[in-house]
Amino acid sequence: MLVRMPLRAYLASALTWAVIALVTAACVGATNYVRLRGDFETEAGTLHRVLSQRVDQHDAHLTSLAAILSSPDRSAATLRAVAEAVLRFYPRIIAIDVLAFNPTLEVSFTTRELGPHLSDASAIVELARTLLPGQSVVDPRDKVGAYGLIKRLPGGGQHVAALVMTIDGGRLADLEGGLSPWTGLVLRTPTLSEIVSVGAPLAEGGVGPAFVFEKALGSRSQPLFLTLVRRPALSEILPPITLVAVLTGTGLAVLVGAFVLHERRTAEEARARASFHAHEAQLAHAMRVNTVGEMASGIAHELTQPLTAILSRSQAGLRLAHSPARNLEEVVGVLEANVRLAKRAGDILARLRAYVSKKEPAPEPTSLNELVRNVVELAGADLERRSITLRLDLNSRDPSSLVDRVSIEQVVHNLIRNAADAVETQMPDRRVVIIATGSDTDAAVITIRDQGPGIPPEDLPRLFEPFFTTKSEGMGLGLPLCERLVEAFGGQIAAANDPAGGALLTVRLPLLKQASREAA
Ligand SMILES: Nc1ncnc2c1ncn2[C@@H]1O[C@H](COP(=O)(O)OP(=O)(O)OP(=O)(O)O)[C@@H](O)[C@H]1O
Ligand SMILES: [Mg+2]
Repeated sequence: MLVRMPLRAYLASALTWAVIALVTAACVGATNYVRLRGDFETEAGTLHRVLSQRVDQHDAHLTSLAAILSSPDRSAATLRAVAEAVLRFYPRIIAIDVLAFNPTLEVSFTTRELGPHLSDASAIVELARTLLPGQSVVDPRDKVGAYGLIKRLPGGGQHVAALVMTIDGGRLADLEGGLSPWTGLVLRTPTLSEIVSVGAPLAEGGVGPAFVFEKALGSRSQPLFLTLVRRPALSEILPPITLVAVLTGTGLAVLVGAFVLHERRTAEEARARASFHAHEAQLAHAMRVNTVGEMASGIAHELTQPLTAILSRSQAGLRLAHSPARNLEEVVGVLEANVRLAKRAGDILARLRAYVSKKEPAPEPTSLNELVRNVVELAGADLERRSITLRLDLNSRDPSSLVDRVSIEQVVHNLIRNAADAVETQMPDRRVVIIATGSDTDAAVITIRDQGPGIPPEDLPRLFEPFFTTKSEGMGLGLPLCERLVEAFGGQIAAANDPAGGALLTVRLPLLKQASREAA
């Protein structure tokens, strides 16, 4: 299946494949990119909600601890029990402290016996003093990996106290399923000091514009600033397996398509070729009739000349016949000239009739010089109209061959038409077609050369294929028909480029030797 397609078909298929594969890959990539962005937005929304709920729990704990502290019995044991339970169930809460605002600044309660020490209690107290009773804020001072949530307890003066909850950022942002790959998360305090940074470093690697989600958590006391960034990797947008599937899928589709097209074209050509051969004789006739149309104005011109001459000479003859000094000799001279002219007109019409005749090809000894002259007589005027110079170089030995005259006239006519088409667009000095006759040991030869652009070397092998044409109005049947007509009489036809420029078409026909010509 693969071997029989021409290289051009392969190149065209490869190009089609590249374009289709590229477009498909782009579509798949775009779909994946959009899907990844959708996934990211969903993930970011979920994460934002989960973190907002988590920080809300801190407020709830602080409120219940504050309630214990403000109850009349203020049981230290209850406070410790609740605080320890909170720490146990919520490992992200790493410490709970109660600071009293008395002059000695005593830490009245802490869970830090085993954990980190509360640093700089006086600064916290200073901050708590600025808060309204019951208000909670995030400690604005830089702290790596954790943040403090400070709540001022109700009450005034000496008895003012603050509840401090220290929360581990890493554990706060610790998610069950973890983050998607290529995603980075950063959580900052409202004063923008970083509490935690997990996952891929922000905006690093990947392709295309990054997906970004930036939003403060929905908590009044802890509006921590959440930033999520994801830059999808090329392997996510166009996974290698998808790429391989796209390449093989489109490749196969194009290959099958090209094969089907090629098969269809081959079948069509075979059908056309078969009908070309089946109707060859009709085709030859139809093409002859067709080309007579092109020659019509030239032929009319050829006929006008003898007819005009006959008319004027006949009028002169009439005048002579009516004149009193009737000169019979002069009248005879006029009539003889008229006969010559009428014969010439008759000859042209006979040639035309023979050319379009539908009779079976009948080989007869034929002078190639005469044959060429016949064709030139019919086609010459048309070439003249197109400003094309026709030069004849007829061999004085007058080579002959046993062929059907009309068939070979048609061959020469077709070759002249092609040559004329080739030179028509050239500069005037190159609008030349030269027809020569000659012979060698066993062939009578007709060559038609022109000074046109010549035949591109890549077209040369296809010239005699039916339907091969480079002309917008051409049928591509001229040369294949010529080949069939010439071969029917044992001859050959060949196309080449003349080293002097232009095309050179050579028709070789079996040479009729002088002796057999005379016998015939
Ligand atoms: N003298 C020439 N110079 C350059 N190219 C030529 C010449 N003769 C033939 N060709 C090329 O060969 C092709 C085939 O010629 P062919 O006579 O078979 O068909 P055509 O002239 O295109 O159409 P049509 O069926 O009307 O003759 C032409 O289209 C042209 O490209
Ligand atoms: Mg042609």
